[in-house]
Amino acid sequence: MAANVTMLSWGVKQSFRSYVEATGGVIEAGGGAERTQDGGFTFAPAPGGDLRLDADGKLEGRGTFTGELKFEAHGGMLSVFLADPIVEVGPSGAVLTVADSKSRTRRVEIARLDLAAMTTEDGEIVLPTALLMHGIQVLGDHYPLMTALDPVRLKLA
Ligand code: HEM
Repeated sequence: MAANVTMLSWGVKQSFRSYVEATGGVIEAGGGAERTQDGGFTFAPAPGGDLRLDADGKLEGRGTFTGELKFEAHGGMLSVFLADPIVEVGPSGAVLTVADSKSRTRRVEIARLDLAAMTTEDGEIVLPTALLMHGIQVLGDHYPLMTALDPVRLKLA
């Protein structure tokens, strides 16, 4: 059954969220991003996306979303910003990219999405994620390459 993707949920990394909040830091979501009950985030769809499940149940296209997240701790020494995620499916696999500053002058590949391990749960596609080179920098150089981040969830229309 073919279906369009209407919403992205992604918690970044549960242990990172817990760490920031346990050290008295703050996590802010805005501009289309919202905090969910389980502590993750949803991102609203942005115009121009065409991410979809095709008739064979394969994920295809590019899903664009809006919203920004700010993590701050240790009196501002820890300051992580990411915004406007895009899920892109290409010939060599799927990636999640984000803008890494408020000016949105640069987009970076933060995680690889494991299409082979895709599952469907309650009308949502669930994709395991693994940290890429630029994602390591965004998260402050703490996690090794291919560390599992929170799974990406895509809501189907
Ligand atoms: C005053 C400066 C800092 C101190 C004292 C500090 C302290 C710590 C400590 C003690 C841990 C281990 C926490 C645990 O295992 O429960 C940790 C983990 C971590 N720190 Fe920091 N940190 C500082 C700055 C930063 C900065 C600037 C970043 C940049 C993003 C950062 C990112 C992280 C990350 C990603 C982890 C791993 C969290 C996880 O997933 O468990 N820290 N830090």
